[in-house]
Amino acid sequence: MKKIAVFASGNGSNFQVIAEQFPVAFVFSDHRDAYVLERAEKLGVPAHAFELKEFDNKAAYEDAIVALLEQYDIDLVCLAGYMKIVGPTLLKAYEGRIINIHPAYLPEFPGAHGIEDAWEAGVSQSGVTIHWVDSGVDTGQIIKQVRVPRLADDTIDSFEARIHDHEYQLYPEVLESLGVERK
Ligand code: GRF
Repeated sequence: MKKIAVFASGNGSNFQVIAEQFPVAFVFSDHRDAYVLERAEKLGVPAHAFELKEFDNKAAYEDAIVALLEQYDIDLVCLAGYMKIVGPTLLKAYEGRIINIHPAYLPEFPGAHGIEDAWEAGVSQSGVTIHWVDSGVDTGQIIKQVRVPRLADDTIDSFEARIHDHEYQLYPEVLESLGVERK
């Protein structure tokens, strides 16, 4: 059985959707006050949080993450709103075993503001992408993506909500396709 960990920096709605459907060995947050940690507690999922600034450098921070992944014997790391670039230390240890969800149709609108950037560009459709993580920003091999329309009467909030709804469908589909067993 494949063991998964979820990494999230803030809200954690994707984590919640995943944890309701799949056993999650633990959640990691790089912010000690992230709302995802409250979600984890309510769902009974083990949680770990520490911050980059607590370490001498990013390599030491990622060494601590790798130690956690090894301690739990994790097969697949699921980034879901983890707002840090994966550095060489974590990548070297887990490349090919880290996936990320991005709220746009890559390679369109990479980076931290995929929804806002698509909205401001006035697109008629955007999307959601799940991809393998490599050393670039949202450049890894695409696993699956879906198109999401922007409707004529959309506000940025309704557009964003539609994108999130598609995220909540796509992540479980991809996990299942990668052989992660449901609860
Ligand atoms: C999602 O839109 C995800 O695609 C992006 O960050 C957001 C995280 O939302 N990478 P949440 O923390 O899962 O609610």
